[in-house]
Amino acid sequence: MRDSIAMVSNEQNFQSRIDAEEKVEPKDWMPEKYRQNLIRQISQHAHSEVIGEQPEGKWITRAPTLERKAILMAKVQDEAGHGLYLYASAETLGVTRDELIDRLHTGASKYASIFNYPSLTWADIGAIGWLVDSAAIVNQVSLQNTSYGPYARAMVRICKEESFHQRQGYNIMMTLMQGAELQQDMAQDALNRWWWPSLMMFGPHDAESAHSAQSMKWKIKRRSNDELRQQFVDQAVQQAEAIGLTVPDPDLHWNEARGHYDFGEIDWREFQRVVSGNGPCNRQRLAHHVDAHKEGAWVREAMAAFDAKQRTPPAEVA
Ligand code: 3HC
Repeated sequence: MRDSIAMVSNEQNFQSRIDAEEKVEPKDWMPEKYRQNLIRQISQHAHSEVIGEQPEGKWITRAPTLERKAILMAKVQDEAGHGLYLYASAETLGVTRDELIDRLHTGASKYASIFNYPSLTWADIGAIGWLVDSAAIVNQVSLQNTSYGPYARAMVRICKEESFHQRQGYNIMMTLMQGAELQQDMAQDALNRWWWPSLMMFGPHDAESAHSAQSMKWKIKRRSNDELRQQFVDQAVQQAEAIGLTVPDPDLHWNEARGHYDFGEIDWREFQRVVSGNGPCNRQRLAHHVDAHKEGAWVREAMAAFDAKQRTPPAEVA
């Protein structure tokens, strides 16, 4: 009885701290469900950053100029870094990196659906940088104010780097749109294929979102899936028009009364298919990660051995 009263008061105190915009830190008391929900979201986010290297990494050797190659290499490296900040942030909640990777490999943990689509042409690298990183920024700017301190702080740096990524993607699209007809067609084709998957990045409609209500109450999420998606559409449509691209949505139009664009319905059956592991590249992406993880085992062992050696006190000289 006394234990359950103490638990209720812990939870009330916790919610009061959240309501007062205090950050929760790793050693603070937190409800177990808050901890598990954060591990779920942060690890899915980390996996997205790392799996997202695959469709772009494929184009490093095929980039059209040395400058584009250097920029793309830096971007892909940044994404690996984002994965590291996020795994480190999840680890502060008492889960190990091995457990997190295991959950990815067994399918227990998701990653962003968008990375299960193929990058078929150079224009796809422009579309990914422009649309996918834009969508990520729209969401992640709000996550800079998430209630868990280590996650919020990781987001600040990640957002700065994602802004550069977005600019490089838009710059590729802009350059293609100033080029020959074939290049313009390539840019439009990339937009046609990446537009709807980009809208899916924000997850199901608010009414269908399993975690939103609780995550908003705990201020893990600061803005709803639909709110973020609307902001993304409002920004991206104008950016597309500015360089002569057409958004592939016949229902898209400016709604003067709402002060926002209305847009067509997402194909949620496609979303479910991709999220449940049956998208165009799901198997390929996971298999590649599993292989890379196996191949990297010797690096992890060497690092662990080096770390253990550093911690061993030197033997006393007789
Ligand atoms: N892809 C894959 N899974 C998705 C998804 C998507 N686009 N959208 C939703 N889901 C999953 C959820 O993870 C949840 O699955 P689970 O119960 O097995 O964990 C389920 O669908 C129900 O969705 P909810 O709306 O209830 O889930 P959330 O409240 O977690 O909201 C989210 C989904 C908006 C994606 C939220 O998790 C979030 O903001 N995550 C942090 C940001 C993030 O993960 N970004 C990845 C983008 S890619 C990126 O940043 C890489 C960069 O290089 C561009």
